[in-house]
Amino acid sequence: MSKTPEFQRAGAAPDLPTGTVKFILYCMSHFRGLMALMLILETGQAAGNILVPYAVKSIMDGVAHSAGGPVLETLRGPLLLLAGLALAEILFSRASGAVLIVIGPRLRQRTTRTLYAYLQYHSVRYFGNNFAGGLAHRISETAMSVNHTVWSVLCDFWPIAVTFAVSVTLLLGVHQGLGLFVAGWVLLYVLSSYGLATRCQPYAQGYAATRSLVNGKIVDAVTNILNAKLFARLDYERQYLDGFLETEVRAARRTFWYMERVRWFQFIAAAALKLGTVYYALTLWDGGQIGVGDFTMSIGLALLIISDARNLTRRFLEFFEYVGNVSNGVDTIVRPHDIVDVPDAQPLRISQGRIEFRNVKFGYDPAQPVFDGLNVTIVPGQRVGLVGYSGSGKSTFVGLMLRNFEPQGGQILIDGADIAGVTLDSLHEQVSLIPQDPSLFHRSLKENIGYGKLGASDTDISEAARMAHADDFIQAMNEGYESLVGERGVKLSGGQRQRIAIARVMLKDAPVLILDEATSSLDSVTEKTIQENLDRAMGKKTVIAIAHRLSTIAHLDRILVFDNGRIVEDGSHDELLARRGFYHRLWSMQAGGFLPEQLNQADFSAMGHE
Ligand SMILES: Nc1ncnc2c1ncn2[C@@H]1O[C@H](COP(=O)(O)OP(=O)(O)OP(=O)(O)O)[C@@H](O)[C@H]1O
Ligand SMILES: [Mg+2]
Repeated sequence: MSKTPEFQRAGAAPDLPTGTVKFILYCMSHFRGLMALMLILETGQAAGNILVPYAVKSIMDGVAHSAGGPVLETLRGPLLLLAGLALAEILFSRASGAVLIVIGPRLRQRTTRTLYAYLQYHSVRYFGNNFAGGLAHRISETAMSVNHTVWSVLCDFWPIAVTFAVSVTLLLGVHQGLGLFVAGWVLLYVLSSYGLATRCQPYAQGYAATRSLVNGKIVDAVTNILNAKLFARLDYERQYLDGFLETEVRAARRTFWYMERVRWFQFIAAAALKLGTVYYALTLWDGGQIGVGDFTMSIGLALLIISDARNLTRRFLEFFEYVGNVSNGVDTIVRPHDIVDVPDAQPLRISQGRIEFRNVKFGYDPAQPVFDGLNVTIVPGQRVGLVGYSGSGKSTFVGLMLRNFEPQGGQILIDGADIAGVTLDSLHEQVSLIPQDPSLFHRSLKENIGYGKLGASDTDISEAARMAHADDFIQAMNEGYESLVGERGVKLSGGQRQRIAIARVMLKDAPVLILDEATSSLDSVTEKTIQENLDRAMGKKTVIAIAHRLSTIAHLDRILVFDNGRIVEDGSHDELLARRGFYHRLWSMQAGGFLPEQLNQADFSAMGHE
């Protein structure tokens, strides 16, 4: 077990911080060195940019003092500085770009992988409450937003801060009053931009919410396109969507109008800075307090500040959105796992296959218990059939055995070990389930069957398929075992999908086998053939088989009749028939009182076979 790769065991789910900022820092933590390098490069680039007006000042001073003579020679220094700055800008910015390419995709990969690994350990209940598409979208959105948040800070806010700080320092050097004027403007501008962004945020969030609502509506409509077609409701669906699209337009306009007002503010603020600086600098010039060089530099710096400040509100808004996305993703995904291995969980070792429910209490909603003190023992090697009305708790019974849900009271023991104390992987490794509605990966049939035993040979796979009566139809497909099955297996018929699920479990060959309506979609002939193979595969295994078609389970050792979460009858087929109770009634209704052999014959002749 020591060789298990990272994140494989439930106990090894990554321990993630639940705070947004901490989570972002956690994701960044692997790239500290490169991030620091980026910070340096961005500083270099911003500083290089801002020193251009300073170089221009030297040139202007030189020109002013040249008294009409040739200047190229005397201005060699400042010109070299200008060239050096241009070069520095190119080098710093491109180096920063290169580092970004190195870190960016890796950071996203790490975030995605970490969130995905965390997500995997959530319980069945969690996945019942959160939709697959939504979760996938959350992960990619969160990973993308972690990147954007980091870049916003490193490549937007940081260089802007450097530009502002250096400009103000340079201006303070020129003239204290001018420096303070610009510093005051910067302070006011940043605060107002932040305030405006905060006030715009609800609009932006509303807009984002309508976008995702529209998206969800389209996904739902496309998923149910067959319903729409079969009910001839295509027009209805378009009109239904139109309503939501209209809401989106209104939300978008609200946000954009607000942004437009922000732009008014920005343009006016920029004009104030430009005019103010020019006027102030001219006054100083008039008073003989600054020279032509300082004058040009002041104007240059003011223009630089304006160009950097232009989109500050939008940047704040985007930043809020990214942080909001991360926080959303963290809230949805990084919440405590419901069902995990207990700290000292031991691997379960099933040698016999004895299953015991001791006073088990369980309800999906504790206020509405499905089981209220259920007791039953299944001895090793026993083959047990579960029957009962729809909703009587059969699937819940087996779900509890697999620890898909945790009972609110009582214990479930396998070979004497409480399953709450064993590792989930060891439990699932040794208890096989063919679920009521098996779904397949959109991968080849070979991979889907081979899922039962990683590394199984082609021969093993086709042998399992043969046992499950799937080999023939697979061979008949264009690409045979390489055929893809469509999302969740939609390109197969219900019965074909069931047979793949059976093959997969036969290959797994676990000591405890659970069949939840495993053959319900099969015709009686195919079912009978598979049943024989299943019986052989069952060998000495403990088997629990759920079926509505009683002929499927009539031959098993023992039958448990469920009614409303209680076991109302317990015994062999013959015993239960003799009791003339619940089971007898069910049996009579289905078979019209036929005995099993007669039932099979009746089935066969009805189908016109043999
Ligand atoms: N994931 C769930 N969340 C909430 N309630 C559930 C969930 N699954 C089942 N139930 C409820 O629990 C009860 C027992 O359901 P269960 O699936 O065990 O019935 P079943 O005997 O397997 O029925 P069927 O023969 O139709 O498969 C039902 O009332 C059902 O509505
Ligand atoms: Mg069921």
